[in-house]
Amino acid sequence: MRHICVVGLNWGDEGKGKIVDVLSSAVDVVVRYQGGANAGHTVYIGEDKKVLHHLPMGILHEGVAAVLGNGMVIEPRGLLEEVATVPASAVERLHLSDRAHVVLPHHTALDRAREATSDGDRKIGTTLRGIGPAYQEKSARRGVRLGDLVRPGFVEERLAEHIRAGAEGLELEEGAIEDSITLCREVRDRLGSRVQDTQSFLARLHAEGSRFLFEGAQGCLLDLDFGTYPYVTSSSPSFLGVGPGSGFSPRKIDHVVGVTKVYCTRVGEGPFPSEIDGAEAEALRAAGNEYGATTGRPRRVGWLDIPALRHAILLNDLDSFALTKADVLDGRATIPVTVAYRLGGEVFETFPTHAEDLSRVEPITEEWPGWGTISETTVRPFAERLEAATGIPVSILSTGKRRDQTVLLEPFESYVGAVR
Ligand code: GDP
Ligand code: IMO
Ligand code: MG
Repeated sequence: MRHICVVGLNWGDEGKGKIVDVLSSAVDVVVRYQGGANAGHTVYIGEDKKVLHHLPMGILHEGVAAVLGNGMVIEPRGLLEEVATVPASAVERLHLSDRAHVVLPHHTALDRAREATSDGDRKIGTTLRGIGPAYQEKSARRGVRLGDLVRPGFVEERLAEHIRAGAEGLELEEGAIEDSITLCREVRDRLGSRVQDTQSFLARLHAEGSRFLFEGAQGCLLDLDFGTYPYVTSSSPSFLGVGPGSGFSPRKIDHVVGVTKVYCTRVGEGPFPSEIDGAEAEALRAAGNEYGATTGRPRRVGWLDIPALRHAILLNDLDSFALTKADVLDGRATIPVTVAYRLGGEVFETFPTHAEDLSRVEPITEEWPGWGTISETTVRPFAERLEAATGIPVSILSTGKRRDQTVLLEPFESYVGAVR
């Protein structure tokens, strides 16, 4: 086993950052292939909390190359601020795709304007980071890429006109264009030498025998095509997004591990069949500290959803599960798990395509064995039930937020053990 991919199986915030961090000690390169500052990936090193938005978690590991792939959309201020939080030497391990798109002020303004004027079914509850409009401009073949910023004269001579054209009819904040030009110039001057053809870079490292980890952002129920459209993000967070988002052939990836909490959360609008509310939800939100790492918004909470997981398993050609936040449900005699849906008089176990259907289903929930205090042994009856329901084994168990609160099972015990 050489190359691996870590994806979120729910609606994001599954604990991908922590899992990627743990596995990063075993690889040479960590690659982000989609999304941008909408992501918030957290790791605790001891009691020190670190949240990354653009940078792959591997950046925190000496000797690991960190690639921001062509499928990402990059916000200059956010990138510069994040780079300032890692050691200067880490910048030498950073590789920015010249094909990655740049999030500009008119994207953020459009994201805000749409969310402010939308209500009812039209509101998505985005992170307001300009993500959708940036991808929209990319698809319309009008975007600006990091590779443009480093071309002589582009920032000074062409960027303002580009933003003005894109902002037509929108109100930009006072000074937004000048600010953007300053920030893009800073990206060029400070990080220009790190902007490169990352597809060729990965091909070269692959030929040299390096081990790669692809770090998905968001979760596959937010996938633009296969998520709960239109309540989705504008990229492909699933394993299938690796190819277009990095230029590396997914055929070469040996193992896809999907991260799921033992319960479920969602931020923003959209259907969530197993959602709970009232005092029970408050208690779970407090126990799991379910507040967004990017926006601070309280996350909606509910139970693990097997039909949704099966959908994610198919989409990711999944090999194994990383189960996170099990400690949050410590002490429960049983764990509620949604195993099917009811709609009209019909019971089914599949995940409906249409968000309207999904919003109308009634969850059918079973009580699965609890674990008292979480450990590899005590979680076994629950894990076996999950494995039986999905056909997918558990390979990683996260028992707390810290790096060292992780149990690696096969194949990761050997994978990480080999380099320790
Ligand atoms: P990501 O976006 O998937 O990387 O997840 P986030 O970082 O947005 O949210 C996950 C939160 O859960 C973070 O605050 C993590 O520190 C925390 N976390 C991760 N794994 C565990 C775990 O096993 N137990 C507990 N209690 N917290 C965890
Ligand atoms: P990580 O990587 C959770 C959600 C937003 C909104 C929808 C569209 O930390 O798991 P966008 O700003 O992308 O246009 O918003 O997607 N969303 C996330 N939810 N975790 C994330 O990232 C998310 N990134 C976007 O809340 O519902
Ligand atoms: Mg997050």
